[in-house]
Amino acid sequence: MLDRPNSVANKTRVAALTADAEFEQLVRATFGNNAQIELTVVKGTIIDEGSKLEARDATVVVVDLDAQHQDELVALQRLANRLGGVPPLVVVTQAFDQTVARKLLQIRIADFLVKPVAAIDLVRACARAAKGSAGGETIEAQIYTFLPAAGGVGVTTLAIQTALSLLGGKGNAASVCLIDLDFQHGTCIDYLDLEPRLDLSEIEPRPERLDRHLLEVMLSHHASGLAVIAAPNRPAEMRSFDPLVVTRLLDLVSANFDYVVIDMPRTWFSWTDNVLQGSNKLFIVSEMTVPGLRLAKQLLSAIRERLGEGANPQVIVNRFEQRMFTPGLRRADIEKALGSAFGGAIPNNYRIVREAIDRGIPLEEVKPGNNVAIAMKKLILPQTALKAAKKEKAPAQSRSFFWAR
Ligand SMILES: Nc1ncnc2c1ncn2[C@@H]1O[C@H](COP(=O)(O)OP(=O)(O)OP(=O)(O)O)[C@@H](O)[C@H]1O
Ligand SMILES: [Mg+2]
Repeated sequence: MLDRPNSVANKTRVAALTADAEFEQLVRATFGNNAQIELTVVKGTIIDEGSKLEARDATVVVVDLDAQHQDELVALQRLANRLGGVPPLVVVTQAFDQTVARKLLQIRIADFLVKPVAAIDLVRACARAAKGSAGGETIEAQIYTFLPAAGGVGVTTLAIQTALSLLGGKGNAASVCLIDLDFQHGTCIDYLDLEPRLDLSEIEPRPERLDRHLLEVMLSHHASGLAVIAAPNRPAEMRSFDPLVVTRLLDLVSANFDYVVIDMPRTWFSWTDNVLQGSNKLFIVSEMTVPGLRLAKQLLSAIRERLGEGANPQVIVNRFEQRMFTPGLRRADIEKALGSAFGGAIPNNYRIVREAIDRGIPLEEVKPGNNVAIAMKKLILPQTALKAAKKEKAPAQSRSFFWAR
C-alpha cells in the first residue's frame, strides 16, 4: 500500500565509525531496526579503522572521534578529502570548544554533534546532510492543508473531497493520505466509516521509533484507495503533543505518498506553525456570512504575520448560494472583501453532502458530476495538473524514504 508508483526502492545506507560502546548502542538503536536502512558499524578510532569504513556507497557517514586528538582530525581530513563531500560526513565529538570548532570548519563535513547525542538529533543531522548532498533530486509530496475560519464550516468535508479527487481516475492513480490533526474532535474517520488506528501515546515517548512499518500499522484504508491517519477522539482531553511527534509523522507520510491532505483543528497548537510551514497549499475554509468572512480575514493576516507573504493562503467560501433578489452577501462582496486571497466558492448542497457522510462514500458516488464535487475539483485540479506536467519533464528520480523533507 505504501509503495509509491513512481518511486525507486532505494535503501538508505548509514556507515558509522565509533570506539565508544555507548554511542554505538545509540546508533544501532536509532538506525538498526529500520528495514529501509542498511547500517554498517566499524568499531575503533578513525586512525586505526578509518580505512575499513565502507564510505563510498553510503548515503551518509557518521564518524565519532576525539576532536582534541590532533591525529584523529588529520585522519578525518584525509577521509573528507577522499570523499569530496559525497557521501556527506556527520562528525560526533566528545568535547567541544573554539579550537575544535575552527578545525571542523576547515574540514569538509556536513554537520557535527556534541555528546551526549539524542537519537532525534542524530536522525535530523543525517537527514539534513543526506538531503543536502542529494541536491534537488528529492521529490516531495504535495501537502494541502485545510484550516477552519470558524466551527462547522465544512473543513472535514472539503478535505475529504479533495483527498478523493487527488486519487485520480483509473490509470492515473496517485497515492494520497488524509491526516486528521483535529485530535480532539476529528470526524474524518466517521465521515469515511473507518476505524481510527493512530496511537499517539505509543509514538510520543520516542518519536524516532515511528518508521515505515509502524506507519503502516497506523493507517486506515478506505475502499477508494485513500489512506487515512486519524486517532480515536478524546473529547474530554485538551492535550497538545510535542511538535516533534507531529512533524515526524508528517515527514514520514510525505515521504511515502504523492499527496497529503491535512484536516486542521481550530485551536492553534505548538505544532501548527510547523505544519503550515511544511504545506504547499493552505486553504482557509469559511462560510458565506459577514462574521465568516471577518474570521477568514483575521486568520489570513495571522498566517501572513507568522509565515510571511510566501504562504499565500486561499479562502474557500463553502455553502455558497447565488443570491439575486434576496438580501445578503453576493459573490462580488466576497471578492471585494478577500481580494486575491479568495480561492473559490463551493455550492451549498446539503442533501448530497449529508448522504456521502451518512454512507461513508465519496460525493461522486452519491451523484456523479454533482456541483460540490465539480467545484472542488476545479479548485484543486489546476495545481495537480501543474505537478503532473512537471513530473513528466523530470528525469527518473529516486528518493530515499527516511530523509525526505
Ligand atoms: N457544501 C456543503 N453544502 C451543504 N452542506 C455542507 C457542505 N459542506 C459541509 N456541509 C455540512 O456542514 C456540516 C459541517 O461539515 P464538516 O463536519 O465538514 O465541518 P467542519 O468544519 O469540519 O466542522 P468541525 O468544526 O466540527 O470540525 C456537515 O453537516 C456537512 O454535511
Ligand atoms: Mg471537522
